[in-house]
Amino acid sequence: MTTGRKSRYAVEARKLKKVFRVGKKRIVANDDISLHINKGEIYSILGPNGAGKTTFIKIVSTLIIPTSGDVLVDGRSVLKDEIYVRSCIGLSTGFERSFYYRLSGYQNLLFFGSLYGIPSRKLVSRINLLLEEFGLYQWRSVQYMKYSTGMKKKLSLIRALLHDPKVLIFDEPMSSVDPESTVKLREVITDLKQKGKTILIATHNIREAEALSDRIAIMKNGRIVAEGSPFELKHLLKKKVLRIMQVNKDKLNAVKSVLRRYGEENFTVSGKKFSCILDDTELLPDIIAALNEAGIAPSEILIDDPDLEEAFVSILKEEESGLS
Ligand SMILES: Nc1ncnc2c1ncn2[C@@H]1O[C@H](COP(=O)(O)OP(=O)(O)OP(=O)(O)O)[C@@H](O)[C@H]1O
Ligand SMILES: [Mg+2]
Repeated sequence: MTTGRKSRYAVEARKLKKVFRVGKKRIVANDDISLHINKGEIYSILGPNGAGKTTFIKIVSTLIIPTSGDVLVDGRSVLKDEIYVRSCIGLSTGFERSFYYRLSGYQNLLFFGSLYGIPSRKLVSRINLLLEEFGLYQWRSVQYMKYSTGMKKKLSLIRALLHDPKVLIFDEPMSSVDPESTVKLREVITDLKQKGKTILIATHNIREAEALSDRIAIMKNGRIVAEGSPFELKHLLKKKVLRIMQVNKDKLNAVKSVLRRYGEENFTVSGKKFSCILDDTELLPDIIAALNEAGIAPSEILIDDPDLEEAFVSILKEEESGLS
């Protein structure tokens, strides 16, 4: 019995598994996921394309059912208390088919808002306020099918906010949205947290996840491979990064060959910035001496902690080599 019990968590996944069958092929989209999201927390699932993020979100939102395991939202099972769970959540996704193409943005919001049972006067003022906030007010009477991708995205964000739910679930909220609206959305999310709401975000945008999230779960091949605050994830890696801020093209090859000589190949070059995630820091004095010989002064070299992007890429790589 799940009803009537007060839950400590906003969302709790218990040994969740989802297998899709395509012909004779089995795709394990979610593979034994157990996690909890605290009330009032911003929790992001970060992972590459096909990791299983949207599948997880669809299960939490009761759009699809798991193959095994369960998810509790506010202590209630998505399998046993679907109606209650739906009343708790506001979902924004990129699935365009969830709107009526021939209705205007305003008419769509009015329709979905009334399904939520919001009294009409309250609903109208809430719709107008949100349309204004997201810069969509002047487009309110235009048919949904004539909206740009970004406008459609905004409309789905507004719909998720209409009934003031306890848990907001956003699938790739920042994709296709212009910078001004990204700032707005970040404000909206921070504001929701301050009001005590719980926010679950699926994204592959590392910077957004880092800027907003209290905790991040890194998902790969349907499994959670690491979880923690952005700070914890960076330190989980227990690796150092060698950086050279200004490296000219003519010296770049020499730098790379020095590092390769010491078995370090995990480097990236961005403009004149060079970074290499070091597998073995014990060799650092030797590497620095060799770089010095190659014309890079010790003062130009910075030994740093990884940023979240570097940690993310490394954690995924380690996971891959662990699987092979
Ligand atoms: N309805 C479905 N039928 C068959 N396979 C599916 C279905 N939905 C998802 N999958 C598969 O499950 C896996 C996970 O997909 P999912 O959409 O959850 O990933 P994602 O992390 O959201 O990816 P993206 O970043 O591209 O949005 C993929 O291999 C995908 O092809
Ligand atoms: Mg997805």
